[in-house]
Amino acid sequence: MQIERFDPKTDAESLRACFEMTQAGWPVDHPDEPPWAYDSFAGKWESGYGTAPRQAWLATDESGDPVGGYLLLLPDQENLTAADCRLVISPARRRAGLGGVLLAHCAGQARQAGRTRLTGHVRDGSPGAGFAAAAGARGGIPEVIRTLTIDAGTPALLTALRAEAEPFAVGYTLLSWLGVTPAEHLGQVAAVHGAMADAPRDDGVEPRVWTAERVREAEQSMIDHGLTLYSVAARHDASGNLAALTQVITEADTPDWAFQQITAVLSGHRGHRLGLLVKIGVIGLVMAREPAVRRFQTGNAGANAHMIAINEQLGYAIGGLNRTWQLDIAGQPGPSPAALPAALP
Ligand SMILES: CC(C)(COP(=O)(O)OP(=O)(O)OC[C@H]1O[C@@H](n2cnc3c(N)ncnc32)[C@H](O)[C@@H]1OP(=O)(O)O)[C@@H](O)C(=O)NCCC(=O)NCCS
Repeated sequence: MQIERFDPKTDAESLRACFEMTQAGWPVDHPDEPPWAYDSFAGKWESGYGTAPRQAWLATDESGDPVGGYLLLLPDQENLTAADCRLVISPARRRAGLGGVLLAHCAGQARQAGRTRLTGHVRDGSPGAGFAAAAGARGGIPEVIRTLTIDAGTPALLTALRAEAEPFAVGYTLLSWLGVTPAEHLGQVAAVHGAMADAPRDDGVEPRVWTAERVREAEQSMIDHGLTLYSVAARHDASGNLAALTQVITEADTPDWAFQQITAVLSGHRGHRLGLLVKIGVIGLVMAREPAVRRFQTGNAGANAHMIAINEQLGYAIGGLNRTWQLDIAGQPGPSPAALPAALP
């Protein structure tokens, strides 16, 4: 078996092999999530997940058939001791030790890049969770996945919730936009992203530091990969500053789904039901523009009581739990990547 690095931007065959293995495992690995379309997967492997340096590797057997692969992300702005590993083994080739070999390879690459811990994000109860635990990784705080199903009663529910919340939000005005954030709001959108710093997160994980430029890059990358981005913000009329923001994406290949991104309220503006109001606003906006959307998916740290209360009011139902696992890779001898293939099963 061979493990070879490839460039996802130029090697479409290797990229497609990784996609097909991911897709084949989807019903078991992510039972209540819509599968990714190829374009979305390719975008994520080529340049999604931010601008961090990345390595893509494909493992093939003696006949040249793909058996597994991974994408290694090396954050370069914060979490500089960590590397994130997205590892997949073809479902037909699982439980034969290949995952362990690829993980060791990935850890070797991460260690060479100066990293001391490897992270991976998986659903509780999935093969990935069993694998991470067996590898000696530590599970972080659970992220509860919730789904809102749009039905005939949704518009009336949104109207009633809005009427109840609006009296608490006097002095704020909702704004919305489609696509990248207009230049005039960029700095403030970065500030609202910064408010996520006090959302619950795993030990040892540093929050992202947001700048206007980083917001622009992240949003542009989504648009470049065919996603539609909806934003609803609440502006504090007296200061003219943005106080709250929510963003949702949709993509053409999964027309019945919308995916919640950030929802945050700046600390000085909490208690005005702005989180609920911006979410009501964005659900209404997506429903009006994309009537095919039937489900909104969101994920929140289990301890994020305020956000969860908002989601429950809106009718979100709990799906699965996801969490990030961290594996300490400091001080392990680590296989020399060049020596690995000989040792593979
Ligand atoms: C997780 C994954 C990479 C494991 O690949 P694999 O080749 O089957 O892993 P290994 O054969 O090396 O398994 C090593 C050990 O992990 C544990 N493990 C692996 N799959 C498991 C499962 N389905 N349930 C429980 N434990 C499991 C076992 O302890 C296993 O040893 P054993 O088979 O001797 O009992 C594979 O299932 C996969 O691609 N999943 C989807 C993507 C994913 O979750 N990636 C992990 C990101 S951290």
